Parts: sequence; C-alpha cells; structure tokens
Amino acid sequence: MMSNNRKHSVGRNSRAILLGLALALLTPMGCNYAGNISGLHWFLGMHDNHAVEGQEEDYTTWNNTYAGEYDRGMDSMDVFGGPGSSIRVPPEGTVPREHEPYPYEAGDFAGAAAGLSNPLPRTQKILERGEKMYNIYCAVCHGNTGAGDGPVTPRLANVPALTSDKIIGWQDGEIFHIVTMGRARMKPYAAQVVPEDRWAIIHYIRLLQKQKQQEGEE
Ligand code: HEC
Repeated sequence: MMSNNRKHSVGRNSRAILLGLALALLTPMGCNYAGNISGLHWFLGMHDNHAVEGQEEDYTTWNNTYAGEYDRGMDSMDVFGGPGSSIRVPPEGTVPREHEPYPYEAGDFAGAAAGLSNPLPRTQKILERGEKMYNIYCAVCHGNTGAGDGPVTPRLANVPALTSDKIIGWQDGEIFHIVTMGRARMKPYAAQVVPEDRWAIIHYIRLLQKQKQQEGEE
C-alpha cells in the first residue's frame, strides 16, 4: 500500500513539472496584456507576404523617381499612387460604381438643355425637399424668394434673381447644368448637392417663379 501511494505522488509531481515547463514555453509566444502585440513569431515565412498590402510602402518602386530628387513628405501629392506607394492609380476611364459620368462641358448649356430633363415628379414631398435644399445651398446668395437678395449680397454684388423672365425661360437642364458645373462667379455645387436634390431644387425654383408671377398679377 505504502509503495503504491509513493508511486502515485511521484507521478503527480512530474506532471506538474511538465505543465510548468509547457507554460513557460508558451508564455512568450502568446499575446501581451494590451492585446495588440502578437508576441514572438517563430516562422516568419507565413507572415511577411511578398505582396504589398494596402497603405504599405512599396520599396520595389521607391527609388524609381524619388532618388533624392524630391522630398517625399505628406504634402507631396505623389505619395498617393506615386513611386513607393502601394496605392495604384486606377486605369484611365475608371469610374466609381453607380457613378454616371456627367457628359457636358462647362460651357455646353445647349447640350444640357437638349439632353437633360427633370426625372422627378412634382409632388408635395419633392417640393418640400427642394425647398429645404434650396434654403441650405442657394438662398444665401439668391435669396429665400429667389429675388437675388440673399444675406451675402452686400459683399457679393449682382447676384441674379432666379425669378427673372430669363430663368423662367431656361430649360430645367440649363439650371441643372449651372448647379453642376458652375459659371463665372457661381461655383459648381455638384459636390454638395446630389443630382436628385438638384432636380428637387429646380421644381422648387419653378414654384418660386410662379409665386412671383402671381404677385405681379395681383
Ligand atoms: C455664393 C453665392 C451663390 C450661391 C450659393 C448660388 N449661386 Fe447661383 N449664382 C451666383 C452668381 C454670382 C451668379 C451669376 C454667375 C455669373 O456671373 O455668370 C449665379 C447664377 C445662377 C443662375 C443663372 C442666373 C442668370 O440669370 O444667368 C442660376 C440658375 C443659379 N445661379 C442657380 C443657383 C442654384 C440653384 C443654387 C443652389 C444650388 C445657386 N445658384 C447657388 C451666386 C450663387
């Protein structure tokens, strides 16, 4: 009985020693307490991929043109897509998904007048959307009623009215075009106002024009 017991306790001790050794070996391989350093890596071949990853520097093209010629600071536009950058310049003619290229040059009002028409129905909801967007993006200059008397006009002279006979006579496509491409002192608003909102604004401008005409008749 005694000898059996002793054997048993020796077995338990050696198991504890083995476990301790295994833990001591595993600890440096594990994560650190902050969880953002993955510990020691024994087989690097699987980690360091030859492919250049997103936003990694591409040393294979690094010296192509820089070669000490320019300063490769953040203010150098070539950092993006240039030598040493993993960001690739898309092939010419590439367009983002669901983006329709705008086909009319800035001066081509006639093309826009002929080729574009308002795709939105003139509903209460769309007029309300147009009013909201007009008041945000256009009224500062063209005024809440489209009279060309927005709050910035003391500083920006001769902002045209949108309720003039001239703009009453414009095609929807021409108004869309000036908002998209700008003209002279009127900057393009394509980056601020999405196409649907531009068309809603145009419905709203037509309403302002009608209101102005009705006032004239009274
Ligand atoms: C920063 C001031 C400013 C804002 C904001 C602005 N415009 Fe203009 N807009 C002008 C000026 C100035 C002109 C005259 C441009 C020129 O000299 O050719 C003009 C011209 C126009 C014309 C042609 C008028 C004419 O008689 O030839 C239309 C139409 C027009 N804007 C629509 C809009 C719409 C719609 C918006 C809102 C999306 C808008 N504008 C926002 C300043 C502004």
